[in-house]
Amino acid sequence: MVQNTRKNVFEGKKIVVGITGSIAAYKSLFLIRELVRKGAEVFPVLTPSATNFVTELATSNLSRNSTIVDMFDKSYQSKGAWHIDLVHQCDLMIIAPCSAATLGKIANGICDNALVTLAIALPRNVPLLIAPAMDTSMWENTATQRNAKTLLEQGAVIIPPAKGELSSGLYGEGRLPELPVLLDYIQTYLYLAEISTERKANLLKIKGKNILISAGPTQEKIDDVRFISNFSSGKMGYAIASSACSLGGNVTLVSGPSCLTIEHNLKLVKVVSSNEMLQALKDEFLENQIVIMSSAVADFTPKIKSSGKIKKEKSEELVLNLIKTPDILSELGRIKKNQVLVGFALEESSEGLFNAWKKLKQKNCDLIVLNYFDREQSGFAGDFNTITVLKFKSENEMNINYYEPMEKSLCAMAILEEIAELL
Ligand SMILES: Cc1cc2nc3c(=O)[nH]c(=O)nc-3n(C[C@H](O)[C@H](O)[C@H](O)COP(=O)(O)O)c2cc1C
Repeated sequence: MVQNTRKNVFEGKKIVVGITGSIAAYKSLFLIRELVRKGAEVFPVLTPSATNFVTELATSNLSRNSTIVDMFDKSYQSKGAWHIDLVHQCDLMIIAPCSAATLGKIANGICDNALVTLAIALPRNVPLLIAPAMDTSMWENTATQRNAKTLLEQGAVIIPPAKGELSSGLYGEGRLPELPVLLDYIQTYLYLAEISTERKANLLKIKGKNILISAGPTQEKIDDVRFISNFSSGKMGYAIASSACSLGGNVTLVSGPSCLTIEHNLKLVKVVSSNEMLQALKDEFLENQIVIMSSAVADFTPKIKSSGKIKKEKSEELVLNLIKTPDILSELGRIKKNQVLVGFALEESSEGLFNAWKKLKQKNCDLIVLNYFDREQSGFAGDFNTITVLKFKSENEMNINYYEPMEKSLCAMAILEEIAELL
């Protein structure tokens, strides 16, 4: 069956972006800009304090909409109670950055400005994303923690503040997460809002699960300056890691050399060779309920790794003897206990299904994501992938779902939905 999944969940969505009096407010201008670029309609709402940090002129200009600050501004009052009208037409509200003060007001229902009133009036089926940003001591304060917990219990999504250098020059937890993280959360919750209640409940099973993901290529040393590798960029694995984090999974990402960065709150283990990747995955394996092998491990490695630099002048040709690298997926399949084990197969279209089915059985996997090196929007490097998901049923039976080409971030959601069905 071909799964028809939307190509861009932002397109045409109405998103309220709330901004509060935090030094991180300038970052919300980039958020508005990016949401508009992705096709969303943005309604900026500022607390009076926020106007000390960013101007209404900037938020209106970037969103191409008016900015709401004053609850009682006469110009908004044309459609009855403007706040009720707005919350009933919007698809998602995000408050980024959310100050300690606003966090407390929403948790306690104190509707004394336009932003808090909107957050309180938001229907329960519309996602409310809150990205607290403040100094570490403010974030760790008992009242702030209690308010964050209350909001979580009330169904809001708290985007965990990042750790790092704060505007005060101090180091700690409390930074507003970087733009890609905020966008991942928005994408995830727009996606969840779009699917049926059953699918949503299924996908949310990812929350709280320990998930081990491998990504990127490996590099196999020839000498101290050269290596054998492949064209894997790591984009697919990083996209799965990002989506799993925004669904509330506890992610460990074992990454081969990749120029990608990931800002989510996860454990990142960097490796270079296939042997290092095997060791890192084995070290982490038993702690995880879901293991996704999306890395492109080199199949061969030089038998002898020369030290120094092999000199070009010494001979007319260089013969490398290659030996097989460890079969990491098989090894994980062998030590598997209760984990859901997911492999990737990069194949030629004509024989892809056959080979993926063989891999699924031989390597004791529960699910194989088949993608193709001979198709336009599939495989290494690009931002899109075309996947087919095979799930083990019995020795002679499997479930197959074919997907249309999608951005890798949406492929990631589809893969996580398929995995969640096995939990
Ligand atoms: C320069 C400056 C930076 C501030 N940064 C933050 C911040 O990052 N997080 C925070 O919770 N409060 C911060 N505050 C304090 C808030 O602005 C203050 O608590 C205000 O009442 C918040 O109001 P609001 O939530 O209605 O926007 C800052 C204050 C100043 C003067």
